[in-house]
Amino acid sequence: MEPGKFVSNIILIGFMSCGKSSVGRHLAKESGMNLFDLDSMIVDRAGISIPEIFETVGEKAFRDLESYVTSLISNHEASIFATGGGVVLRESNRDILKKSGMVIWLRTTAENVLKYTSKDNNRPLLEGNKSLEKIENMMAQREPIYQDCAHYSINAWENNLYQIAEKIWEYYEDFQNAGQEQLTS
Ligand code: S3P
Repeated sequence: MEPGKFVSNIILIGFMSCGKSSVGRHLAKESGMNLFDLDSMIVDRAGISIPEIFETVGEKAFRDLESYVTSLISNHEASIFATGGGVVLRESNRDILKKSGMVIWLRTTAENVLKYTSKDNNRPLLEGNKSLEKIENMMAQREPIYQDCAHYSINAWENNLYQIAEKIWEYYEDFQNAGQEQLTS
């Protein structure tokens, strides 16, 4: 790393089960960069699981905690952040994400979400009747928001972890160079 050069964060966004945490771990392993998982930061602070937070204090309190941990991203550089799928719902969070690093949207399909969450009981928003239609509706609402927030997007269902990481490192180089040009022009 060149001394004095600002090194951007890498921020992974996308729908539940699109692979943000796995891709984050892979990137951290390849690069030695620090990895922060916003959902884990919330759980650490609350001292209870995400389903317990939703059950005891409700979604609004969860979103407030999520906004708080999101605000901490701007204190970092050269780190990787895996976010929760709903972090983009608040405009204030989106503003922080966009200003705090290179935002990558990992795109997935409703079929894959259903497949990968079928045995999962850690996602309160998908509890109850977990149907393809319900997931498709949620995705349709959120996709324009992910799109608006992201600098780049990657199809995460047709690429393996290595291919996704390779694309991210290519984008990262362009992003870093563009940032340096903006700083020096
Ligand atoms: C949520 C996604 C979850 C978690 C919470 C709410 C959402 O994270 O933050 O259950 O609103 O999409 P993952 O995307 O890691 O599942």
